Amino acid sequence: MSNNILSQIFNQIAAGEFISGEEIGQVLGVSRSAVSQNIKKLQSMGLDIYRVTGKGYKLAQSIKLLDSEKLLQNDGIENCNVLFAVDSTNTFLLNKIKSGCIQEGEVAVAECQLAGKGRRGRQWQSPIGSHIYFSKYVSLEDGLSAASALSLAVGVAVAKTCQRFSNERVQLKWPNDVLVNGEKLAGVLVEAEGQSDGRCHLVVGIGINVSMPDLTASAIEQAWTDLYKLNGNQPVDRNQVIKLLNEELEKVIAIYKSERLSNLYNDWNQLNAFKNLPIELRSTSTVNKGNCIGIDDTGALLYNDIESNKVKKVFGGEISLRRAT
Ligand code: BTN
Repeated sequence: MSNNILSQIFNQIAAGEFISGEEIGQVLGVSRSAVSQNIKKLQSMGLDIYRVTGKGYKLAQSIKLLDSEKLLQNDGIENCNVLFAVDSTNTFLLNKIKSGCIQEGEVAVAECQLAGKGRRGRQWQSPIGSHIYFSKYVSLEDGLSAASALSLAVGVAVAKTCQRFSNERVQLKWPNDVLVNGEKLAGVLVEAEGQSDGRCHLVVGIGINVSMPDLTASAIEQAWTDLYKLNGNQPVDRNQVIKLLNEELEKVIAIYKSERLSNLYNDWNQLNAFKNLPIELRSTSTVNKGNCIGIDDTGALLYNDIESNKVKKVFGGEISLRRAT
């Protein structure tokens, strides 16, 4: 099944009006049965579409498509790959790094990810036309040691961007989950390609929930929210969010490159969802409890440990943080 036909059908039905299989087939020069097979494929990619006999296909909600012209020209993302369906926008850029044809700051966004990646090996639900799947290439001097705290800085940019569309307070959960009232709105996954010393090549991946389809919602285990709800049940234009997100990221990455977290850690602490609250930190072998303080300028999380009554620090890695009851 070609991506080209799929994307053309997707474009035809995005406006949310009824359109018959025959009409779609005529425009694209394919049979009605080919249309019906492609519609099934789009459904398997998370598209909420139904069919009424005698009227044709219709989307449950119209979709404003990613607009490559708008993203590239007017809004000035210098290098933006606007993709239809891709395994993962992160993997797309990681492959471009490997092949040596990538520009600093290059961006990839997609309508759909077929194998979206979350942190700690989890899957990231990426239904078609619903959310933001955004990746950006960043190279840093000083090897991977400089990369570890970048995701905290990125979290600040994502939270600030989302706040522009939210009537409620957007906050961060260490290291970089973006939450509203404890529900997940967005996540960050930074991946590295290549050597561990010298210049390091990173892909910063960001997923933001914009308008969650019912079918996908039932497959997500943790509490979630989306920009549609936070914007008073009003549609949010993904193109506008992407433009602002890229601007915030450019600012924050420039600051991070010149001074790391020396000042950004204060911004992060302002957004800390668990400030002064009881927390539990779990690794594979230990559980520590305490009161959350915030991060320091290396990106470590500080907390008052209940057992020892001392301030303790944890660094990234396989530690999970949750609010203690
Ligand atoms: C998390 O688990 O919180 C991180 C989620 C990161 C998802 C984004 S979507 C764009 C980019 N491509 C991926 O495959 N993952 C990241």
